[in-house]
Amino acid sequence: MKTRAAFIFLLALTAPALAQAPSGGDTPGSATNKTPPPVTGEQVYKQVCQACHMADGMGGKGAAMIPALAKNAKLEEPGYPIGMIMQGRGAMPPLTDLLGPAQIAGVVTYVRTHFGNNYKKPVTEAEVKMMMGQ
Ligand code: HEC
Repeated sequence: MKTRAAFIFLLALTAPALAQAPSGGDTPGSATNKTPPPVTGEQVYKQVCQACHMADGMGGKGAAMIPALAKNAKLEEPGYPIGMIMQGRGAMPPLTDLLGPAQIAGVVTYVRTHFGNNYKKPVTEAEVKMMMGQ
């Protein structure tokens, strides 16, 4: 499990789309702030979530049971996926070292509107920040 998380961390660090993503502005304190620049929810999904939840959102059964995000009624309440990303659970690590609030909002909006989910109301960066106590 540790190895997998480390692998994903590296993957996210080296993923070309992240490296090339337009910067969301200047990067004050970038030496300590490892959060990559904002990218679309789809990019975040493909670079971070897909390794476990699969390209079709169906999850799988490997070393750990990974639930499907496809047609998942638990995504109706945005706080649920946001909380999963912030805190992790079981074999899912917290991803706040990789993703900032804008990216979390983007990817949660993405999974809520893809893979057979149709929760149209976008999740905003402000909502995520509020949950993070920022
Ligand atoms: C390292 C593998 C891994 C990565 C990366 C990962 N997840 Fe997960 N995810 C899991 C596992 C395993 C679970 C089940 C955890 C449990 O309940 O024990 C899970 C559970 C979830 C759940 C709860 C589903 C349910 O039905 O209860 C959501 C929502 C979720 N992940 C979203 C995401 C999103 C969005 C991303 C990308 C930002 C992501 N995950 C990245 C492994 C991963």
